[in-house]
Amino acid sequence: MVAAHVPVLLVDVLEVLRPGSGGRLFDGTLGLGGHSSGWLAATAAAGTTGMVVGVDRDPQALHTAEARLEAAFPGCSNVYRGSYEEATAAVRAAGIRDVDAALMDLGASSLQLDDRERGFSFRASGPLDMLMDPASSPTAAEFVNGSSEADLEDVISRYGEDPHARRIARAIVVERRRAPFTDTLRLAECVARASGGRRGRRHPATRTFQALRIAVNDELGRLERGLPEVARCVRGGGRMAVVTFHRLEDAIVKRFFRDSERAGWCRRLPDRTPASDEVRRNPRSRSARLRTIETLPALDGSQRELETRVASPVARGGTA
Ligand SMILES: C[S@@+](CC[C@H](N)C(=O)[O-])C[C@H]1O[C@@H](n2cnc3c(N)ncnc32)[C@H](O)[C@@H]1O
Repeated sequence: MVAAHVPVLLVDVLEVLRPGSGGRLFDGTLGLGGHSSGWLAATAAAGTTGMVVGVDRDPQALHTAEARLEAAFPGCSNVYRGSYEEATAAVRAAGIRDVDAALMDLGASSLQLDDRERGFSFRASGPLDMLMDPASSPTAAEFVNGSSEADLEDVISRYGEDPHARRIARAIVVERRRAPFTDTLRLAECVARASGGRRGRRHPATRTFQALRIAVNDELGRLERGLPEVARCVRGGGRMAVVTFHRLEDAIVKRFFRDSERAGWCRRLPDRTPASDEVRRNPRSRSARLRTIETLPALDGSQRELETRVASPVARGGTA
C-alpha cells in the first residue's frame, strides 16, 4: 500500500501561485503529486484545463504520482525523472517555453520517510540507504562506513547542527570497527548513546539522520543550483514558491529571493507558515515556511533577459 502524503500548506500554495484559467505549473518536487493535483483541480474548477510539468528524483514517487494524476486529470501532466536542476529541459520537453508558476516543496516525502526499506527512519530497522534516487551514491551506509571521523563530525555539525557532533562521530568510528553499519536502528542507537539519550521530545538521532540525508542526496548543493534554473522557467508576471523545512535550506532560499529582488527582476511576497490547526492535523508541517516571489511582467517574452539576470553573480547570492 502506498503511504498517504498530506501536502503541506496546500491552500496557501494555491493562493500564492494562483492556478487561474489554464495555468501551467512546474512542480520541481512532484512527490506523490499532492500539490499538483490541487493545482489541476483548481484549474478544472475554473472551467479550464491546466497543465503540470512534474519532476522528481525518486522513480517510485514519480510512478505513483503519474498514475494518480493521469487517473484524475487525463492528459494534463508531463512527468520526468530527474532533479529540479533540469527544469528548463523538462519544460521544453513538455513542448512549452515557460510556465505561469513554479513550486519546490523541499525535503523528503512520507513515502520515503515511512518506508523502512528506504532507510530514512531512525524509528524502524531498515537498510541504511536514504537515497532519493536509488541509482545515485553514496548510500548512507557507504558514507558512514567510509568517511573519516573529521568528515563525519563536519557533516553532523554543519547539516545536523548537532552540538554533540564530535562525540557522535567518535562513537560511529569506534562502533564500525566491530562491524560496518548496515542497519538504521543500530546507527540510531549508537548516536543516542553518544549524545546522552533523549532530552526533549526529539529523538537524539534526529539531527544526525537529517545530516546524513542532506549529505548523501547533496540537497543543499542541488538547491543552490536549482533555484535559478527553476526561476528561469517562470514567465514574466508569474510566481515561484518554495516550501522549506529547516533553517539551512530556508537560508539559501531567503538569500536567493532577496538577492533576486535586489537585482530587480522580481518582488518578494510575504512569507507564510502553517496555522495551528494544520500543524495539529499534520505534525510534519510544523517547521514549514512558504517563500514566494513574483517575476516582473516587463520581462514577459524576454526570457533571455531573465536568464541574464538570474545568472548574474548578484542574483546568485554573491553579495550580502
Ligand atoms: C516533500 S516531498 C514533495 C511532496 C509533494 N509536494 C506532494 O504534495 O506530494 C519532496 C519530494 O522532492 C523530491 N526531491 C528532493 N530533492 C529533489 C531534487 N533535487 N529534484 C527533484 N526532486 C527532488 C523527493 O524525492 C520527494 O519526493
